[in-house]
Order: sequence, then structure tokens, then C-alpha cells
Amino acid sequence: MISFNSKTNSFRLDTPNSTYSIFINERGYIGHAYYGSKIGDDDVSYLTRNKEYGFSDNKIFREKGSFLDFFPQELPTEGLGDFRESALAVCDSEGHNAIELKYKSHKITGGAKALPGLPAVFGGAEDCSVLELTATDDILGAEVTLVYTVFEKLDAIVRSVRIKNNGAKPLYIKKALSLALDLDNDNYDMITLHGSWARERHMERHPVHMGKQGVVSIRGETSHQEHPFVALLDHNADWDSGKVYGMNFIYSGNFVADVQKNQFENIRAVMGINPEGFTWKLENGDVFDTPQAVLVYSDSGLNGMSRTFHDLYREHLIRSPYKKTDRPILINNWEATYFNFDTDKLIDIAREASKDGIEMLVMDDGWFGHRSFDDSSLGDWIVNEEKIKGGLKHLVDEVNKLGMKFGIWFEPEMISPDSDLYRAHPDWAIQIPGREPGMSRAQLVLDITRKEVEDYTYESLAKILRSANIEYVKWDMNRQLTDIGSVNLPADRIGEFYHRYVLAVYRLQERLLTEFPKLLLENCSGGGARFDPGMFFYSPQIWCSDDTDAIERLAIQEGTALIYPLSTMGAHVSVCPNHACGRVTPFKTRGYVALSGTFGYELDITKLPPEERAMIPGQVALYKKFSSLIRNGDYSRIASYRENNEYDCWASISKDKTKALVTFVQVLNHPNYKTRFLKINGLKPESKYRITWPDEKAEDFPAMELFGRTLANAGLPIRRDWGDFRAQLIFIEEI
Ligand code: GLA
Repeated sequence: MISFNSKTNSFRLDTPNSTYSIFINERGYIGHAYYGSKIGDDDVSYLTRNKEYGFSDNKIFREKGSFLDFFPQELPTEGLGDFRESALAVCDSEGHNAIELKYKSHKITGGAKALPGLPAVFGGAEDCSVLELTATDDILGAEVTLVYTVFEKLDAIVRSVRIKNNGAKPLYIKKALSLALDLDNDNYDMITLHGSWARERHMERHPVHMGKQGVVSIRGETSHQEHPFVALLDHNADWDSGKVYGMNFIYSGNFVADVQKNQFENIRAVMGINPEGFTWKLENGDVFDTPQAVLVYSDSGLNGMSRTFHDLYREHLIRSPYKKTDRPILINNWEATYFNFDTDKLIDIAREASKDGIEMLVMDDGWFGHRSFDDSSLGDWIVNEEKIKGGLKHLVDEVNKLGMKFGIWFEPEMISPDSDLYRAHPDWAIQIPGREPGMSRAQLVLDITRKEVEDYTYESLAKILRSANIEYVKWDMNRQLTDIGSVNLPADRIGEFYHRYVLAVYRLQERLLTEFPKLLLENCSGGGARFDPGMFFYSPQIWCSDDTDAIERLAIQEGTALIYPLSTMGAHVSVCPNHACGRVTPFKTRGYVALSGTFGYELDITKLPPEERAMIPGQVALYKKFSSLIRNGDYSRIASYRENNEYDCWASISKDKTKALVTFVQVLNHPNYKTRFLKINGLKPESKYRITWPDEKAEDFPAMELFGRTLANAGLPIRRDWGDFRAQLIFIEEI
């Protein structure tokens, strides 16, 4: 709910458990007064310390030069005295870098608003309301609108900023972040996600220190390395208690998220498009919309934050018709065959897989041009009939006859120098004239910001999809952007390239879903380098990591599930020794870990040891049984191997709290040690629950009955398993 109090000149943005308060001071500056647990309907403008004295005072209140460096602001700008991190920086056509925002007007409306060309949260008037706060810099002729989408049933506020040039001369935006949050320091810790290829989104927690700290990408995509997410939390906050502010960016390109602890020990967090390499020219009348950034407040620890993000994304960002329905259990041939496959091999895999209840065959990289390794043919999206004998339609029909769906891999944004496309259009690759563009995985990137390149890319994909009954696409992206240049852009617009590139990716995926509305799209980028909420708008699931090892996946899936629903995490069972790290784990553990994601297989089922093969129908049955609970339930982290160096544990709890599925993975066994008690929060305290091990013999794992209150406070005893990497699946149901 959003309300405006004209007596105090302040806005209140209320969600079920949080209040966010904005105060317009007498000079028209838009101040940030409060964000946190619900407060009373009071005038809290004093929290901005609007009238405090400082160095070089005129004894009334601070002069501008000192005031702006102190006052908590909703959208701090560069150049006029706020020396902290800015969220907006503009250069005029004479080269001056200054913009000052003064409140002009506001509008409160019901229902979320779309953002042109960008992913955006959606919802009707019953779900959310929108505050548009417009401020101007009359000297520049700039009009800036701060947009807040406030959710009624979720503790989430989504921000974006619209910048319009009403002046006669061009303006150059140098920095347009989506979110700024000024908080009084409260001895906060900070959580960010870090990694690398095959090690994405590992959680890191540390106390906020003086100065600047944060995460960033300048790779043209979200990246394996850092993630557009920051949580600020009480030093003592844990999974289920304490105050947490979570920030996440609905975008798939360069980003920055910084936290700065300043001279007064206050904290400013900012998030948005990375200003490095960015400028955007606005001619008279032009408008620039930033992507949306999400703010989530939780007073019930990290699990509370995760649940809000999950609900927000499941209900208000993912559009796919698949979001609520079962996803087909797929088998992907990448780790099974790599480039070495043909029609017969794929049909063999499909035939055997169909016997075990697997529902879709996905043909991965290597079916087009003359690609038999990763060094050719990207861009030549023509079926290689030497491998795919009889053609694609024949293969798809044969797979369909087995009762299975068919899916296909593309890497649409790329061009191999060894391709007919490159030989015909060498200028279509992103490059700086006169400089040889840098290679990565033997490939270059197409300049899809050019209309003719976008159209070629779209048509070559669509043609394949029109040619057979293809129901799933894995959209890959296997290198980062370098050598930024485009024949389309004049010198003063080259800084627009990175963002234009992301807009072109969104446009291409939107076109695809418009023509093929039932298509199940899975995004991917060398594993999980484009696992971000921007992509959720187009694909309900994203390949989480090229590392399919069950133990490596624990940290990857822990960090991913901290923000993103389990239903979005692409997770497959693969063979051992694992192809990414050589580890050997039980087939059962691999199954349980994949079960907490989209679930599928990535192995040559025709060569699987018989005892492992025999377990597939059971795993498929488990997925069918628990899929809805996993996809639609409340996620709750119970323990982390990262913290205890021994085991990992998480649960999915049904919204009505009558059922829960707990996954327990004993990473390392320690001899002569005690039974563990797992504290399972989130059930009904006064209800009695029956606890069973659905995948075990009842005589080995006898059922138990405990109250919800007991499970939360005393815990569920978990017996130690003999060996490392063992896992248990525990089902809890209200009696
Ligand atoms: C990326 C993907 C893999 C696979 C290969 C194919 O690495 O993440 O799953 O599709 O490309 O080249």
C-alpha cells in the first residue's frame, strides 16, 4: 500500500511486514527516512537528520555542500556535493557533470507497469501499487521519475528509474542505477555470491567495512564470477531469525552492486547497470528506462528473504505456461556423447530412456554445419545430415513415436570464424575496426544490435523450430563480450552497446516466445553465467552449472536457491567419475540433489552400470511424487556444509504446512560421532507429523511421529550413514 501525507510531505510504502518511508524536504530533495520492520503512522522525517548541524554551519542547518553529503537520498546524483556513491550521473552537451533533482509531482496507481523492451514484474491492482515520483533539474531540462512497485502480500518493493530529456540539447547519461538505499549502520554483515565456471554462486558473508565493497560484471552478461545480489543483514542474523535486506537486479548484462560505509558510519547500497563502458545519449524528448531492482525485507532471517524472492519470481516474473505445470523429465546427450553422435545414437538413448519414464530427449551442441568440435559452424544453423541421417524431422518423429518430446540446443548469439556465415559477413562479428577481435572458445559474438543480424539470427532459429515438432530449446551463450564496437553506432553512442546488446537478447527471446508460445525455453551460459531474474521473464528454468557433481552442486544450489526458486534450477544426474571434478558419489545422492532442481539426466543411459540404471524408474517416481511440493513449496535451508564442514540440509514445505520434503546430504562422515538433530522450522507448531523415509526400507528407517514444535526446537534425529556423500530423503506429513 502506498500513501502520501501532504502535511509531512512524506510517502509510506507498506508491505505486510515492512515500511519504507520517503520524505521530501523543504528544499525539494527526495530523502529516504526509513526502511525496515513496520512502524506506526508517525512523521519520521527526523530520521533523515534534515536539520542537523555540521562542519561550516550557518547555524540554521547545513549548507548545501555539507548537507548533500549527509542527507539520505532516494536517488543520489553526481556533481553537487553528495560525495558518496551516486546512482545517477549526467553530462550535458558542454561537458559539465552535474544533476540536481527536486521534487515536482507524483502519481499513485494500482497494478504493475511494463517496461519497454525489458523484463518487469507483473501483477494486478490487488497485487501491487505503483508510486511514480517525478523530479526535475530545470537547468538541464531533465525529468527523472523514480518508480516503486510495492507488493501487497509480499515484503518486496521493486524500483526503476526513468530519465527524460526535455531540454533542447542532448544529454549523456553516464550512470543510471536502479536502486539506492541509505541505512543507518547497524553493524551489518553482507552476503554476496561468487564463483567461476563450474563453481557458480558460492555464498560469502563478511562484516561491512569502511569504504566501498561490492560485486560487478563488465563481461556483457551476468557472469559466473559475481552476481547481481547483495544482502545486508544483522551480524547475528541466521537462516530463521534476524533482519535482512536483500537486493537483486532483474537484468542480464553488466551490473554493479556496491555498499559503502561512510564517514558517519552510515551505509549506502546501490545497484544497477555498470557505469563502466556505459553512456546513453538522450536527444530532446528521448526517454531511458533502467531495468528493475528488487528490494526484499525479512525479519525472519535468510529463509524469510528467500521465500519472498521465490514467491515474487514465481508469481510475478516468470511468464512461461510451464511455471506451474510439471516440466518434462529430460535426458540431454552433452555429457553422454559430447560432439560424437548421430541419429542412431540419439534414438538408442531415447529408446532406453523412454523405458524408464524419461520424457524428453535434448540434442545438445554439434548437430549443425560441420561442427564436430567447438571450433566451427556457430551461425550456420543448418542440420548436418551426415550426423542427423534422414534429417531433423525424421529424428524428432522417431523420438515422438517413443512417446518422448524433443528438445534442441542453440547458441544463437555466436559466430565461428570457421563458418559460412562468417565467410559471407565477417563484419557481423562484434569488433573494433582495425583491431583483431579476441577469441574465446574459438568463437566471436554476433552484433545482434544490428537489425539485419537480429533478423538473420531469429529466422535461422525459427526455421529449425518450424521444421519439426520441437518443444524445448536450450539457449546457450558460451563467451563473454570484448572488443566493443558496432558499425551502427556513432562515436558518442558506442557506450550504449552493452545495454543495446542485452535488449537485443530480450527481443530475440520475446520473438521466439511470441511465435512458439508453448515452447519450454531453458537459458544457459557456459553453465550458469546467465542465471538471473532477467532471464526468468523468458525462461522458467536456467542451466545452473556445467558442474553436475552432486557435492559441488550443494554450494552452487545453496547460493542459487538463496534467491531463486528450486523450479528454476536446471539440475541433472550424470555419471561418475564426474566429468567436471572426477568425484565418485552414489547414484542415489546424485538423484536427490537433482531432484531439488528441474531434474533430468545427462548421461549415456545405454552404458550405465545395471545397478544404477535400475534406480532410474524409482527416481522418476520420486520426482513425480514430490515435484509439485518442490516446485511450489516454501524453501527452507536447515544446514549448510559450508558452515559445518559435515552436512547439507534443506526442505520444501507446502504452503499449507501439511507436508515437507527434507533432503539431507552427509558430505563427510566422521567416526565415533553423535547423532544429529535437524531443526525443521516452518511447520505448524501444534500439529503432529509423521516422518518417513520414502526411498528406504521401513525396517531400516522406522517412521516417527513428532509435533511441529518439537521438530523446530528439539529437532529430528538423523542417523549417521556409513561413508561419505550419502544422502537421505525425508518426508514429513501432518497426521
Ligand atoms: C555449455 C553448456 C553445456 C553444453 C555446452 C555445449 O558449456 O553449459 O551444457 O551445452 O555448452 O557446447
